[in-house]
Parts: sequence; C-alpha cells; structure tokens
Amino acid sequence: MSSPTIEPGLFRDVLGSYPTGVCVITALDDDKQPAGMVVGTFTSVSLDPPLVGFLPDKSSTSWPKIEKAGRFCVNVLGSNQQQACRQIAGKGDKFAGLDLVISDNGLPVMADALASIECTIQSVTEAGDHWFVVGSVLRLETARDDDPMVFHRGRYGGFGEII
Ligand SMILES: Cc1cc2nc3c(=O)[nH]c(=O)nc-3n(C[C@H](O)[C@H](O)[C@H](O)COP(=O)(O)O)c2cc1C
Repeated sequence: MSSPTIEPGLFRDVLGSYPTGVCVITALDDDKQPAGMVVGTFTSVSLDPPLVGFLPDKSSTSWPKIEKAGRFCVNVLGSNQQQACRQIAGKGDKFAGLDLVISDNGLPVMADALASIECTIQSVTEAGDHWFVVGSVLRLETARDDDPMVFHRGRYGGFGEII
C-alpha cells in the first residue's frame, strides 16, 4: 500500500498543537569546546535499563560534534531560561556568558538547568529527515525543582499555576 501524501504545512500545524518541554543537549567537541543544541524531542525511553532519547535534524551542525564525543548531557531548562535557549538555538556564540561546569564524565553541565542527565550514545537510528538517538544514562540529578520551560506553537512559557 502506498503511503498517503501529507502536506508539510498541515503536518507542522497539527504536530505543533502538541506542547513540549525544552532541553539543551551538550558535549565537548574535539577542541574541548562546548557544543550544544536545543531540542523539544527529548523523551524518557526505558527505566530498566535506563535509556533516554531525542531526535536531531540531519541538517544540524551540532549533532555531528556530539555524536563524535560519544556521549551527551541533557540539560532540562526552566521557564526563566528563555534567553539562554534563544542563544543556543541560534548560530552565534551559543554559550557566551553561560555558566557551564565540566562533569566527571567530561560533559558540560549548565549550572542553571533544572536537571541534568549524562549519557553515552547507545544507538543512532535513521528516522526520515532526523536521527533517533538513544542514550544510556550514566548519571542524573535534579538541581532545582522550579517551573519548567514549555514550548507551544513558537511561544515559550512555563507550566503556570499548579492546580
Ligand atoms: C524549542 C525548540 C525545540 C527544538 N527542537 C529540536 C529538535 O528536537 N531537534 C532538532 O534537530 N532541532 C531542534 N530545534 C532546533 C535547534 O535547536 C537549532 O535549530 C539548532 O541547534 C541549530 O542547528 P545547529 O545544530 O546547526 O546549531 C529546536 C529549537 C527550539 C527553539
């Protein structure tokens, strides 16, 4: 059976109705400089064994550096980190003025993130115009239990009032 033709605008519009949290995936490149990208596709994958995943676009220039490092840190952003998010998602100096700590696993951890999850890359599977990356968790912690960043239809917000 041939697959139906789905118009890209419709796909984006419908999938855009689904809100996400926002994370920064970090690693050190060959020159020991931080590399990183903002993702909304981060997800928990498995508890036993502990696995997480995310989907970098095949056009990402940051993903090849992270893949080469063989490991990555997931930094979960709080709702007050919009400026850092826009800077890292842009093409300029992604980490200028941001506080990074290099962990025992040799990974850059954002000091202001809500949580960090350090992983080794377990698998990278082709998924259309993206890669589906699965990471095996090495270390994880919650640094502060504050309002998470939420992304919906191009807008940033927080979880808001808890009811
Ligand atoms: C809220 C938000 C979520 C994003 N989610 C993803 C994602 O899941 N995968 C991806 O490849 N890019 C995602 N992007 C885009 C990248 O962050 C950004 O375009 C990328 O870092 C720039 O490409 P680079 O890797 O060449 O720097 C997202 C951007 C924003 C602002």
